[in-house]
Amino acid sequence: MPKSPTSAFVVAANRLPVDRVESEEGSAWRVSPGGLVTALEPVLRQKHGVWVGWPGAALDSYAPFTEDGLALVPIKLTAAETDRYYHGMSNSTLWPLYHDLIAKPAFHREWWEAYVKVNQRFATAAAEAAEPHATVWVQDYQLQLVPAMLRELRPDVRIGFFLHIPFPPTELFKQLPWRNRILEGLLGADLVGFQRPGGASNFARLVRLRLGHKTHRDRIVLPDGRQVHARSYPISIDFASLDALARQPEVAERAKQLRADLGDPEHILLGVDRLDYTKGIKQRLRAFGELIADGHVNVEDAVFVQVASPSRERVQQYQEVRDDLERWVGRINGDLGRIGHPAIHYLHASFPREEMAALFLAADLMVVTPFADGMNLVAKEYVTCRYDDTGALVLSEFAGASDELKQAFLVNPHDIDGLKHTMLAAMRAQPRELARRMRALRRQVREHDIAAWAESFLTDLETSGDHHRAAGSR
Ligand code: F6P
Repeated sequence: MPKSPTSAFVVAANRLPVDRVESEEGSAWRVSPGGLVTALEPVLRQKHGVWVGWPGAALDSYAPFTEDGLALVPIKLTAAETDRYYHGMSNSTLWPLYHDLIAKPAFHREWWEAYVKVNQRFATAAAEAAEPHATVWVQDYQLQLVPAMLRELRPDVRIGFFLHIPFPPTELFKQLPWRNRILEGLLGADLVGFQRPGGASNFARLVRLRLGHKTHRDRIVLPDGRQVHARSYPISIDFASLDALARQPEVAERAKQLRADLGDPEHILLGVDRLDYTKGIKQRLRAFGELIADGHVNVEDAVFVQVASPSRERVQQYQEVRDDLERWVGRINGDLGRIGHPAIHYLHASFPREEMAALFLAADLMVVTPFADGMNLVAKEYVTCRYDDTGALVLSEFAGASDELKQAFLVNPHDIDGLKHTMLAAMRAQPRELARRMRALRRQVREHDIAAWAESFLTDLETSGDHHRAAGSR
């Protein structure tokens, strides 16, 4: 097997930026699902780094390879590990626990054992890819043990960790049978980053209460004198490249075509999500259905396009949420649709970037209503595409993005009446008001783009942990 590529900058994330998919035409690589990849790919490219991750399927060869100019190190998971570490511990224990128990987490010791084993494999691969004194940036809840494991193997490297999803309050985190092990795993990093300030303070509080370490605001002092910082860094997107894509004439042409295909209604509402129970998809469609049923909206003048990309389909809770959603869509269309005018266009699919940009351009109203969400980059993508300052964003106050996108129409997705009211207000708002809001939203994303996010984290990382290094070298 060829030797692993090495770099001064290594990213370790559960998934590689590309996913192996098998179809009738054979197998091919496609962009992996989710916001993590959208955000980190440009950072890796700029830094000529190496990305360590799972390819999403079994490969014939696990030799490192280059795809679209990115140096990739694939990690092998057996079928049992995929089941226990990925579907189990990551997505049936940690995901629901960290998202406010919207679904009930399951705790199984064999899932935990697989999680430990797979985290060790990632740590070993990252240690091999890191040049002396390199920076290794570990990503997300699937790899929370990697920082400490990596420090064991490579005390010379600088280790950053970033959690892309919410970090739960102490009362919820405490339920985890392996709570201290996770905290200790994260404390292997020099800097632990969170999306929102609340996540960072929850973590520091837990470290103080459960492990008895001293904390001074965002600084944690370990018994050996090493210091770890815990801070928030709201993640973003590559504004310039998406803005440029949206301005391409072919994208505008496609947006016009989409509007025509939808019957050129007065209002096109749009939802774009991984099909996940945290996203509040049913609630927004229900609110839209009620607006039609109440007579506030005419089905011939308004249509809702919901893109729900397939996700974690082997997990039972995801199968249930899909069945439930599809029943609802059928019901709303059956009750309220007219020939040639369904209330909802539901697409269980993922689309390439160009098609997404055209959809964002075609939509008058973007509806983002998660019950809990680390950031939600779709909200930022929508405003980035609205270069003529038109369009409205309805945004859940439980999405991390609501801290920054304050000029959105903010909603509590649990409150269906409030949701109806806010969607209607956004549909009826004057163009001047919408332009004022959109200008401010776009400015926020332009000025706080992915490059600014990475730079602020990596600059802080450079100065974090120095105390330890200096002490160690004395
Ligand atoms: O951003 C959260 C996240 O879970 C990422 O870690 C992940 O890559 C993405 O969503 C998509 O989920 P999955 O990799 O399980 O398909």
